[in-house]
Amino acid sequence: MASKITSSSTAEYFSKNLQQVGFSSGTKAVLTTLKEAVDNSLDACEDAGILPEIHIEIEKVAAGAHKNMDQIRVKVTDNGPGLSAEDVPHVFGEYLASSKFGRGRCSRGQQGIGISAATTWAQVTSAHGARVITKTPKMKQAFKCEVEVDIKKNVGVVKEKSNINWDRESGVSCEFIFDGRMQLNGDAGILTYLLGTSLVNPHLKLTYKINDEKPVTLDRVSEELIEIPESVSPHPHTMKLGEFLAHGTLYGKSTLATFLKTGFSRVNEATFSDLTKLGVKKAWFKEPVSSLSQAEMKTVFGALQEAKLMAPSTRSVLSIGEDALSKSIRRLGEVDFFSVLSRKPTICDAKPVSVEVAIARLRDSKNEADDPVELLRFANRVPLQFDKGACAILKSIESINWKSYGLNQPKRSIPTGPYVIAVSVVSPFIKFKNASKETIDASDELVAELRLALMQAGQRLARFVNKERREFDLEKKRAHIEQFGPILIEGIGRITGAPRTRLDKATEGLMKILGRDEAAAEDALAHASAKQKEMVKKLDQYDESDFNNTEDDDNDSDDSDVEA
Ligand SMILES: Nc1ncnc2c1ncn2[C@@H]1O[C@H](COP(=O)(O)OP(=O)(O)OP(=O)(O)O)[C@@H](O)[C@H]1O
Ligand SMILES: [Mg+2]
Repeated sequence: MASKITSSSTAEYFSKNLQQVGFSSGTKAVLTTLKEAVDNSLDACEDAGILPEIHIEIEKVAAGAHKNMDQIRVKVTDNGPGLSAEDVPHVFGEYLASSKFGRGRCSRGQQGIGISAATTWAQVTSAHGARVITKTPKMKQAFKCEVEVDIKKNVGVVKEKSNINWDRESGVSCEFIFDGRMQLNGDAGILTYLLGTSLVNPHLKLTYKINDEKPVTLDRVSEELIEIPESVSPHPHTMKLGEFLAHGTLYGKSTLATFLKTGFSRVNEATFSDLTKLGVKKAWFKEPVSSLSQAEMKTVFGALQEAKLMAPSTRSVLSIGEDALSKSIRRLGEVDFFSVLSRKPTICDAKPVSVEVAIARLRDSKNEADDPVELLRFANRVPLQFDKGACAILKSIESINWKSYGLNQPKRSIPTGPYVIAVSVVSPFIKFKNASKETIDASDELVAELRLALMQAGQRLARFVNKERREFDLEKKRAHIEQFGPILIEGIGRITGAPRTRLDKATEGLMKILGRDEAAAEDALAHASAKQKEMVKKLDQYDESDFNNTEDDDNDSDDSDVEA
């Protein structure tokens, strides 16, 4: 007899598969919890038109309940619109409860899984759910509680409710205590995440306190609210058959014609005559979607894929912008010079996408000359910190000849030196390789677009690097002449029998030519420090044209890679 078939709730599925949504190790558990809470805070602020101010506390509290784990506390507080008390159990304790699902906007959250997974992890490792405080502008007092996920039923259970006074108009604070491991630096580091988040969110004011360290504030560098473009209807070429059929169920009684015209972008009456040539019967257009058989719907889907449609609009894509990135990049540390590049939104794999690149050389970088550059990857303004090997961004970087832009690079690998290369991909439809959204699928079209952005940023950078390298080469030549010139003069003197005074004069003349006499050296030093001050001043009052003017005559980069 076949064994009994049972079904499980969504919460049951995720509680057994938390590794799929970012909880596969202690280090990842800390980063994922932090990231899910911060993502939600930023999304909520942007949706409500509020400049985000986020406060983060992370500390090791005690030894963990599990081997090789510590008990970690993560608390994230925002100044967003807040949640009503009724919404709290749905948000923190129920999977697939979301205000963002399938809405086709460039928000960080998409699925309605993130924060419930963080609650579940806390619950299974420390027997406590999420501790939440929330207040909307309408509420007189804030609502405080602990939320757990009822794993069997996929519903949130609220415990220890109280009303408290809270010194803010609105916002949400959520605290999780769970088993994890804290890593500060490196690819999977908390500081890497925080700095990365501040780079791509110039409008964010971030304060963080880690263990007993003093709190650190990264002030916002832009007062401008991010305008999230409105979503557009899905383009048929971005859909799979299953999604198309599911989309159709929303239009049940409407006719096929209405479904196609209002449910999709770039489909109109003119498309219908193409569809009829591709197997769709004319009569179907007047029939309700629900009366069409699955085979007929499959024919419609197939014809739509074949039909020539205008490419999707790029209107729904958000860009950070070169100006904002240029200001933000200085929050990464002391920057010697930098180059930023914001490509116009374009279409890759039938989906609108915007690619932006920032490259900076850091004065206080911990990188040695042979260490790989620090790579920061972003998808919809969220740092990606794991599984970079298969990511479209890394693949594109490795495929470029960085030597032509003045950087060192081991063969077909990531370049080296005290640089940061930050690459941001923004799209309402990013194709990730996994549910935990850590790696962007490396399609040929996206890699080509990324390469273009990287190469253009590389050209801009090359101006600085090449100039500096030429100065260094010149100095090396001078040092060489300085060392061997006097030996040569002595030798010639011996052969010609010239008097000592003549030889001393010749040596003095040589030093003058090389710029090695004291007065000249002092002059040069004064000139150099004045130049440096000027440069720092320029960095402080950033003017795009000073750094990124492609029209600049002083373009001595090798552009061969772009034409390739
Ligand atoms: N700090 C917050 N302020 C206001 N609303 C919030 C906040 N956190 C979560 N929400 C609401 O709760 C919903 C669920 O959050 P959750 O993180 O589970 O899913 P999501 O962000 O929609 O998608 P994803 O699973 O990709 O993170 C959000 O869609 C949002 O409406
Ligand atoms: Mg979320």
